[in-house]
Amino acid sequence: MQKPDYNALALQLHALTDGVPHFTANTANAAAIIYNALDRINWAGFYFMENGKLVLNAFQGKPACIEIEVGRGVCGMAVKEDKLQLVANVHKFPGHIACDPDSRSEIVVPIHKNGQVFGVLDIDSPYTERFDEYDAKGLSAFVKEFERIL
Ligand code: SME
Repeated sequence: MQKPDYNALALQLHALTDGVPHFTANTANAAAIIYNALDRINWAGFYFMENGKLVLNAFQGKPACIEIEVGRGVCGMAVKEDKLQLVANVHKFPGHIACDPDSRSEIVVPIHKNGQVFGVLDIDSPYTERFDEYDAKGLSAFVKEFERIL
């Protein structure tokens, strides 16, 4: 499969969510766009901050862990450091939370609202080194578009 055109995915998200006042529907569509456009992935979805923890939100893939503490796993680290996490091999990431034992690599992008971390976009792959700087840049642009609906 060709590399995804992340600008096109952001435009698609804009077209699907513009003027739609339903946050759950918009978030579910955002997860569906990513899950269907990227090859070699097994999970794509959102965790949002609730009472100081990340809580599972709309996603595609196998059922996943519901709550993640800040600082735990790849998602929790993305919140703690407020920094995108590009993990080539999750088995080498201390504290990685194995929701799906098939996952090998992962990318997690922090999402912001009013300057605060609102949550993360998490994407897992059953292949090591699935994600690179192209994905990091493209997914950051996709998240910027997602932030417009918060
Ligand atoms: N692997 C993640 C947990 C979330 S699941 O992959 C969906 C982590 O370590 O943060």
